[in-house]
Amino acid sequence: MCSMKLNKSELTRRRFVKTGLGAGLYVAAAGYGISASGCASEKPVRLGFVGVGGRGMGMLKVALSLQGVEITAVCDIVEEKVTRAQRLVEAAGQPKPQGFTGPEDYKKLAELNNLDAVYTATPTNLHTPVMLAALRAGKYGGTEMPACTEYDQASELVETSEKTGKPCMLMENYAYMRNVKMILVMNQLGLFGDLTHCECGYQHDARYAGFGPNGEMLWRALGGKINNNPYPTHAIGPVAQWLNINRGNRFEYLVSMSSRAIGQNYYAAKKFGPDHPAAKMKYAAGDVNTSLIQTNNGITVTLYYDTKNPRPPDWIYRIQGTKGIYSGTLNKIYLEDLSPKPHTWEETDKYQEKYDHPLWKKYGPVAQSSGHGGGDYLCFRDFTEAIRNGTDTPIDVYDTTTWSIITKLSAESVANKSRPVDFPDYTRGKWQTRKPELIKV
Ligand SMILES: NC(=O)c1ccc[n+]([C@@H]2O[C@H](COP(=O)([O-])OP(=O)(O)OC[C@H]3O[C@@H](n4cnc5c(N)ncnc54)[C@H](O)[C@@H]3O)[C@@H](O)[C@H]2O)c1
Repeated sequence: MCSMKLNKSELTRRRFVKTGLGAGLYVAAAGYGISASGCASEKPVRLGFVGVGGRGMGMLKVALSLQGVEITAVCDIVEEKVTRAQRLVEAAGQPKPQGFTGPEDYKKLAELNNLDAVYTATPTNLHTPVMLAALRAGKYGGTEMPACTEYDQASELVETSEKTGKPCMLMENYAYMRNVKMILVMNQLGLFGDLTHCECGYQHDARYAGFGPNGEMLWRALGGKINNNPYPTHAIGPVAQWLNINRGNRFEYLVSMSSRAIGQNYYAAKKFGPDHPAAKMKYAAGDVNTSLIQTNNGITVTLYYDTKNPRPPDWIYRIQGTKGIYSGTLNKIYLEDLSPKPHTWEETDKYQEKYDHPLWKKYGPVAQSSGHGGGDYLCFRDFTEAIRNGTDTPIDVYDTTTWSIITKLSAESVANKSRPVDFPDYTRGKWQTRKPELIKV
């Protein structure tokens, strides 16, 4: 592996291309025989994209910005979206990728010989089928979240990944954001002491995403048939990493409760009129879902899903232990032995300088230009590096399923007056001996 240190120079090696598709695009320097740093060439990583809607196109731009990554196939049931994606790839100086448009064409895509991995950004119900097709065809899988919503889906993903030796990575971009990565480093160094509690939540007003420009109900608005936390992984992913879940620790059980469901009706009536179907529809899913999780070593985690009422975003990400606390809401910290004033929050700047995660130190200037606070770039980069090196993905199939299955666990608990529901152990006991990666700072 080339050990070059990437920083601003990567940006200068990139060309900014006007695509004619409504956006500019940074593309990696054409050809990668010898890079600007003098590193020898590396085998390209060849990707197929399934689902090139909003998220898929966004990540396609990220993939095209990575050196040595080629897009050889794209698939979407909407032909114009396939064409749009093909044009974007060509505009980046790569050959036109093969296009697929049938509802199950992702299976044909997965079988292609000129492909190393499949990434999917389809609606939720297709994540497991697309990943299974990829793994069975001997390809790496990368999926948007959640990867699965049923126990049998989770088990099948784990078994298929173990049998084929092909990793399945939840592309959890929020686990790559700068503050949560810094906390990962600080926690590993013991700065928060022995942990007691964490808090996290997917909390922003996402009502708009359920509707098209003329008020037509999209797949998100038509969901909500199950009363649960349907989207837990942005919140729980970083916390699971802090707590070494599946690596010496595990989530034991969860209790969950939902509020009443009225936000989407109110929104649709106000925006599209009281006779709009979404204004009259009865939703099963409560507006605010709250779960409480207990870990094997006695740490509690509060997890919120809250997207159906008007509200500014709040990425809580709180970590708390015997020596101090960090609050993502405030982006402030308090460490009893280090902070200057007792009982007083402190800015994080000086900690950022000292404890920035190595990925951020190395790629920060480039990552910052991508979405979700740089998380999109770093997550996709980690995925493609694992493919290139033939290693397991940093978010492995056990993390992918453990984080995703909270959708099901929360549904069961809510349906049973918040009774506790046990987490399945997808590692089948290996969590006791698996070790967290030690971060070198
Ligand atoms: N990680 C993040 O920050 C983030 C952000 C946005 C969305 N997402 C996730 O990405 C996924 C897609 O969301 P989106 O906002 O792009 O939705 P979208 O509706 O814009 O895109 C979904 C695409 O999948 C296509 N599709 C549907 N059925 C298909 C099939 N059988 N084969 C191939 N393509 C098919 C649709 O035509 C559409 O283009 C969701 O799981 C969502 O939760 C993640």
